[in-house]
Amino acid sequence: MSLDLPFATLPTPTDWDRGGLPAWTYHSDAIFALERDHVFLNHWQVAGHLSDVPAPGDWLSFDLLGERAVIMRGQDGLVRAFHNLCRHRGARVVDGPQGQCRGAIVCPFHGWVYNLDGTLRGPARPESFGEMARDEFHLKPIELEVFHGFIFLRFFPGPQPSVAQVMAPFDADFAAYRAEAVLSVGAATWMTDLPVNWKSVRDVDNEGYHVALAHPSLQELYGRDYRDHQLAGWINFSRGVFGDKPGRRWSVREYVKTSEDPPGLPPHLAKAWTYYGLFPAMVFAFTPEGVQFYHELPLSATQTRLTGRQYRHAEETRKQRLARYLAARIDRDTSAEDQQLTIWSNESMKSQAFDGFHLSDLEYGLRSHHDALRALVPVMTLSAPPNEAEIPRINAEMLCGG
Ligand code: FES
Ligand SMILES: [Fe+2]
Repeated sequence: MSLDLPFATLPTPTDWDRGGLPAWTYHSDAIFALERDHVFLNHWQVAGHLSDVPAPGDWLSFDLLGERAVIMRGQDGLVRAFHNLCRHRGARVVDGPQGQCRGAIVCPFHGWVYNLDGTLRGPARPESFGEMARDEFHLKPIELEVFHGFIFLRFFPGPQPSVAQVMAPFDADFAAYRAEAVLSVGAATWMTDLPVNWKSVRDVDNEGYHVALAHPSLQELYGRDYRDHQLAGWINFSRGVFGDKPGRRWSVREYVKTSEDPPGLPPHLAKAWTYYGLFPAMVFAFTPEGVQFYHELPLSATQTRLTGRQYRHAEETRKQRLARYLAARIDRDTSAEDQQLTIWSNESMKSQAFDGFHLSDLEYGLRSHHDALRALVPVMTLSAPPNEAEIPRINAEMLCGG
């Protein structure tokens, strides 16, 4: 455990089961359906930042596994989330990743009009509905919470307490980075779809053991210092400190020369790239120049969308802008490298020769993540695949049996 961190981290046990989740859980449609309801839709998901919706009428959309949300800033300045689902016949009331409504939300199908707070102003041709209780047709609200400017939502109630409670150990760090004041970088959304199960993406991202071989630029930047840390609850933390060596690669060398810490960063964040993970599948990655979040949004048992958004300091200097550009170049190489590893890992799950993982102590993050999944979807503890049709029943019985 690193003594200079301001939060408690968990020691890695000396004796633990080094196998991961069984391979069949990476391509089972029945497991995917259970993950949808027990892992994704009922846990907090990050969808953006207040700076993505600065003015009344500004909106962001967020789709996940058949559910669709719109996050809207109201005339009163408050940010709310609703199901992006017209109460007339279910059309999307806004279309696209991000946009602006002038004064009202007008459904593009038949023109029902909603106020920016989600209440129904009125249907088109109201006389054609006879008696109608308008207040029964407001857009349906979705639970929303803001943590240091980041907007989280949860489609359905679940086992996690508030984001503020879950992320409490990171409170001081997010404050030190002034996360609340960052600004959205123009065209901040990026998106890549990969032909893999979402767990294979997370398995690669949840450990730094592969950095030395797979990520030459990152290794050069901070590989000598990089460490993953598990915390109690739903969170984890990783950090690599850079600057002790100039670096041979152009982007690393220029980055190390250019990067400057913003004033007031505490010692444990100085000259560091830090990663704050939140279950089930999201990471907030800070550098001295800004922050991005990235997450995996599962599309099916065999298809996953990698996406995220990037933010900069409100008063960005030319030097910070250049460093941010260089950091993004390093990141671009890193994600291409990770994507290949993810594909190989996921492919192996279908080979009859695959005997499962044998994890290093440096990969304990995978084990923690798998443990959290096994607690929510206990049928994943079975090493042999049950009949697909039986999986929901077996899982329900295992949950009841404690
Ligand atoms: S579905 Fe929205 S007005 Fe008809
Ligand atoms: Fe990686």
